[in-house]
Amino acid sequence: MTENTTAKSPSLDNLEIGVGAWAWGDRFFWNYGGSFNDQDIEAAFRTSLDAGINFIDTAEVYGQGRSEQILGQLMQNTNKPVLVATKFFPYPWRLARRSLQNALDHSLKRLQVDQVFLYQIHWPLLLLPIGTLMDAMADAVKSGKITAVGVSNFSKSQTQRAYTALARHNIPLASNQVEYHLLNRQIEKNGLLARCRAMGVRVIAYSPLAQGLLTGKYSPESPPPGVRGPRYASLLKNIQPLIALMKEIGKGQGDKTPGQVALNWLICKGALPIPGAKNLAQIQQNNGSIGWRLTEDEIAALDAASDEVAK
Ligand SMILES: NC(=O)c1ccc[n+]([C@@H]2O[C@H](COP(=O)([O-])OP(=O)(O)OC[C@H]3O[C@@H](n4cnc5c(N)ncnc54)[C@H](OP(=O)(O)O)[C@@H]3O)[C@@H](O)[C@H]2O)c1
Repeated sequence: MTENTTAKSPSLDNLEIGVGAWAWGDRFFWNYGGSFNDQDIEAAFRTSLDAGINFIDTAEVYGQGRSEQILGQLMQNTNKPVLVATKFFPYPWRLARRSLQNALDHSLKRLQVDQVFLYQIHWPLLLLPIGTLMDAMADAVKSGKITAVGVSNFSKSQTQRAYTALARHNIPLASNQVEYHLLNRQIEKNGLLARCRAMGVRVIAYSPLAQGLLTGKYSPESPPPGVRGPRYASLLKNIQPLIALMKEIGKGQGDKTPGQVALNWLICKGALPIPGAKNLAQIQQNNGSIGWRLTEDEIAALDAASDEVAK
């Protein structure tokens, strides 16, 4: 085990972007071992750390533990700090408070660390009450195994309940990780984004590239491979005007790609995007979405175009 690969006083507030590691080890959805391999992942990991982007999101369920294992192995070969975010999945058979502790211990083992930066409840499958889950999270903070507590896919009221339960332990709720991108702005419309802001809970935006659609590389004639092809066939037809606008705005911003525009739009909204990346080229491109800002007019134009196609 390494001593501790997380930062001393980490905070989500200062982070602009992270990396999503669902694909690392996932064969079924992302074709790990087919279109990309361990060497590609290693190159992506190293390039990201070299660029100072070290917030990496994984979960015990990604690749059935393989994503955590790969990340753990990669962290063995670097001295650079990595802010690991992982997740507890509330399976229906996990009914005791100690099941979170057990799952966390298994995650730490796969990751080969003594502590992770952020531990999140993956989904609000509420056989275990939120209060019980947050009591277990508080135990994990007190034991030094996690630094910060997050939730994922929580609604406004569930986020509030988690926040209140943790406050009883004097622990802040650090984040809520939800789907958020130009094709899904539900959290703007249902008030979750505003509520999180008011509570000081950072919104972590997952699938920020709409699983590759917002990079502009897919079209009705050239759909994504695998599961995504049929899933996004009709959406791909509708989003072409939005993609055209993103290309135009990107050009005016110094040749930014549609993907970089999509990620910068999220940053401008105050969210922390965690784009998944399978190789060095994708990491480099995604990292080019920070260090600049869309204008207010560009954001408004993107909002209007996304309203035409988004939920
Ligand atoms: N909490 C949750 O319930 C939940 C759910 C989903 C995801 N997540 C987290 O969010 C992270 C990101 O979400 P996601 O992986 O679903 O979707 P995403 O980040 O929107 O899309 C990732 C995919 O887009 C393509 N891509 C990425 N960068 C690219 C670039 N620069 N140029 C061209 N293509 C690029 C790659 O696939 P191709 O090359 O194959 O197109 C990549 O695997 C996940 O890794 C995971 O950590 C969490």
